[in-house]
Amino acid sequence: MSMNAPVKREFSAIANAMKPSAIRLLLKVANQPDVISFGGGLPNPESFPIEDIRRIFEEQLARNGKKMLQYGATEGLDSLNVALAARLKEKEGINSEPTDIIQTAGSQEALYMLGKVFANPGEYVITEAPTYVGTISALKASGIKMVGVEMDHYGMRMDVLREKLKKYPNPKFIYVIPNFQNPSGITMSFERRKELLEIANERGLTVIEDDPYGALRFAGAHVPTLKSMDNDVVYLGTFSKVLSPGIRLGYVVGPHDVIEKLNIAKQAVDLATSSVSTYIAQAYVSGGYMDKQIPKIIDLYRQKRDLMIESFVNYFPGDVEYTRPNGGMFLWVTRKGANTDKMFEEAVKQKVLYVVGSAFYPDEDNHESMRLNFTFSSNENIVEGVKRLGKLFEATAK
Ligand SMILES: Cc1ncc(COP(=O)(O)O)c(C=O)c1O
Repeated sequence: MSMNAPVKREFSAIANAMKPSAIRLLLKVANQPDVISFGGGLPNPESFPIEDIRRIFEEQLARNGKKMLQYGATEGLDSLNVALAARLKEKEGINSEPTDIIQTAGSQEALYMLGKVFANPGEYVITEAPTYVGTISALKASGIKMVGVEMDHYGMRMDVLREKLKKYPNPKFIYVIPNFQNPSGITMSFERRKELLEIANERGLTVIEDDPYGALRFAGAHVPTLKSMDNDVVYLGTFSKVLSPGIRLGYVVGPHDVIEKLNIAKQAVDLATSSVSTYIAQAYVSGGYMDKQIPKIIDLYRQKRDLMIESFVNYFPGDVEYTRPNGGMFLWVTRKGANTDKMFEEAVKQKVLYVVGSAFYPDEDNHESMRLNFTFSSNENIVEGVKRLGKLFEATAK
């Protein structure tokens, strides 16, 4: 009779330090009936071009089926890189060759790989504070430390950045979301963008520009991308907010050495992005479908943003502050002295969900804010959800 030794399962220190993302947990509750969720960063399914995708899918399957169902190259579908380079030139003034681009399984994969290729465990990078929670998770998963730089209404504060760089002079990169930032909704001003690039250039630092929301501008003038101002910037784009997140397709436009390293990293992560997705996206861009769809998404979201802000005016106590973004998907609500982590339990009971502001701070505790998504909920639920939050604020009056 053989005796098996009990399995000694020991996870890595990094795995033991990982916490489930606040947003993933929240999505579970969000699916319950009567719950109004302003939590997840979900596009509105009304904005999905279902009929166009059905037609494209059938056409592509008939025309390119054997390639579309095969493994693809690690850098992605060539013709999509050609289409992306042309589009980035036309829309953003970005000068890139198709070979400067690598397609990824959403920007999330790019963020994870950028952490891997730039930083060793224990090294640090600079981010805005607050910043995208998925970036915090992706970098933490590689044991990378983050130094947060405070923002104001014009984006990352350059005086604070200069101060932080005195204490942390060798960050592996500076990561920013200049357009309609997740979570704050803030857009970095042109002057700040110039100053950021000056600071980076003086010190020879890499800047990573994450731009999932830039095409979703409802109002105000376009601000040039960092990448169009300085071709050394590493630029991240995604189809998640202008087509569908389910297609899991993003791309990185970079200096050539960065793209080469990402290519090698990607071979270890997933070999290649889904060929099915890349063929669909290629036809979506090149067939003019994307240009037709974006204005529809913008119209829908503008109206939802307006309704949510109008509801704040009607139902929030006067001391609650909020951003008024000209695009994107999020509003950032702050009440001095509030603790939105403590409020959250009551919010769940009242069946209204938000993401606690503290989830977005890379290296400090800050509990005064919450992130509200305005794109997903029906108009009726936007009004009702804000009403519930307003009551919650009243009940937790300081
Ligand atoms: C700032 C930012 N970066 C990256 C992502 C990841 O997007 P995806 O992986 O769907 O392309 C998101 C998604 O919400 C985001 O807000």
